[in-house]
Amino acid sequence: MKCVKTIDHQGLIELPALIDPHVHFRTPGECHKEDWKSGAFAAVSSGVTMVCDMPNNKPPCMTIDALIAKKKIIDSQLRSVGIPLRYGLYLGADKNHLDQIEKAKEIAIGVKVYLGSTTGSLLVESALDLDEVFRRAASVDMVVVVHAEDEEILKREKERYGPTTDPAAHSKIRSPEAAIVATREAIKLAAKYQTSLYIAHLSTKEELELVRQAKKDGLPVYAEVTPHHLFLTVDDYAEWKSLVQANPPLRSHEDQEALWAGIADGTVDTIGSDHAPHLLEEKRRPYPQSPSGIPGIETLLPLMLDAVNQKRLSLERLTELTHTNAEKIFSLPPNDDRVWVDMEMKKEVRASDLKTKCGWSPYAGRVLTGWPVYTIVNGEIFAIQ
Ligand code: DOR
Ligand code: ZN
Repeated sequence: MKCVKTIDHQGLIELPALIDPHVHFRTPGECHKEDWKSGAFAAVSSGVTMVCDMPNNKPPCMTIDALIAKKKIIDSQLRSVGIPLRYGLYLGADKNHLDQIEKAKEIAIGVKVYLGSTTGSLLVESALDLDEVFRRAASVDMVVVVHAEDEEILKREKERYGPTTDPAAHSKIRSPEAAIVATREAIKLAAKYQTSLYIAHLSTKEELELVRQAKKDGLPVYAEVTPHHLFLTVDDYAEWKSLVQANPPLRSHEDQEALWAGIADGTVDTIGSDHAPHLLEEKRRPYPQSPSGIPGIETLLPLMLDAVNQKRLSLERLTELTHTNAEKIFSLPPNDDRVWVDMEMKKEVRASDLKTKCGWSPYAGRVLTGWPVYTIVNGEIFAIQ
């Protein structure tokens, strides 16, 4: 990727650059997996000019002071690589720091609540604390972003399933029921306080139905889906094993088809990469010591352009899912960033082309048609191919 002065746009199509509402750039605390230098290259080389970063850092980002400190590191790393990547940060909800929610309104784009344990230590377990998060967020008109998996059900299923080293068990232990129950609970609280609710990485048919109903009821409830739930299923454990272990986990073909139906009928609002890089050596530890998470920011656009070529959705719908809706939901300042794409370029996904520090992708080997060629961020043109 290099900075250029002009665009040769023959045969290319211009789209608004992507906003990725869900990334884990691992800073501070785990810069060996990613930082904002590698993250910025990964983003801009794949048409993304704005990312919204999750708070499950080490230590977790659950206070204003932590957000300010994180911002300082990010700005300095972005400056050092000369990429004016735009970004927003989420505050992590924690029962001992609930008073930070209202105060974070000016600095965070939303508050992230983990209803089930995942990578990192953030978790809100008690119903009372959760109620309080929604009440406080609503009082300052802040979006609540949920990781909707019910902790009690996760614990119960883990116990019931017993010890196992089979990564495919991950999708059984972290059952659809755990996600459905948590999503139902979150929607109830959104209704109670009229809080804007953004359901991250929605993965099941039933949750989609809950969101469809919530929208019909006029609630400000929004659904994000990830590329891994759109392009991988439980069948992919056979080849990729713990590499495709994620939370929420891969689901059935039926769930996957329901997500595509939600994309077609407008129930799904955004596509977030949930770019969650871990090194291969970490991912290859025997299950369940292997960490959950799949890298995805660099493959989001080519996978979706390939889907456009296969007539699964239109370019207009893709723009809503990757730009317009995120801008509205999170009240982001509009920008003129662009990505120019070649809808006919056919290329294999290769791990060696990736800019992420983790250096691997579960889509490696797939031949996709439709790739970004130039990204314009804040007036600067980056040639990708
Ligand atoms: O698979 C996941 N990985 N799910 C999460 O909720 C967190 C993420 C990570 O940070 O690795
Ligand atoms: Zn995530």
